[in-house]
Amino acid sequence: MVSPPQVFDPRRLRHVFGAFPSGVAAVAAVVDGAPVGLVVSSFTSVSLDPPLVSVCVAHTSGTWPVLAGAPRLGLSILSAEQERHGRQLAGRSVDRFAELSWRATDDGAVLLDGASGWLETSVDQQVRAGDHDIVVLRVHDLDADHDISPLVFHASQFRRIER
Ligand SMILES: Cc1cc2nc3c(=O)[nH]c(=O)nc-3n(C[C@H](O)[C@H](O)[C@H](O)COP(=O)(O)O)c2cc1C
Repeated sequence: MVSPPQVFDPRRLRHVFGAFPSGVAAVAAVVDGAPVGLVVSSFTSVSLDPPLVSVCVAHTSGTWPVLAGAPRLGLSILSAEQERHGRQLAGRSVDRFAELSWRATDDGAVLLDGASGWLETSVDQQVRAGDHDIVVLRVHDLDADHDISPLVFHASQFRRIER
């Protein structure tokens, strides 16, 4: 007999998933002449050859369908000094890029100044997974500065790494 799928309280899922610390990345591109983006804690490296990374986006996201058609997406790994950027780029009914310093690549990927690292990517695959899509991104260019301490997201809070 096939057992029915296990159902969990979403708060319990968030509680346990949040025990795993992650970084915070801004995913952004210029669309119709203006920067568009959101922040994710689901950024993960996937493959070295070919170079691939992934993010998971909720089906409820209003921003992802706009970004998904962009030829290039910028991923900026937020620094410990960019907690405000993290909040602002997840905000609703706000100008997410107000007073943020950023640059666009020739192909329209948006990269935040002062990030710990950045990648210029394009969508390679999109796989439905429950209430999210796993978006696999191909890397076209990248750089990082390990002297710039990253922002950490743990237990639903922004934190810093103690040196
Ligand atoms: C720290 C942090 C991490 C987040 N991580 C994700 C994520 O991995 N995937 C996702 O779809 N949304 C994530 N969000 C939510 C989005 O940034 C955004 O708020 C959400 O997509 C709603 O905005 P939208 O409708 O404009 O997309 C995160 C928000 C915060 C503050």
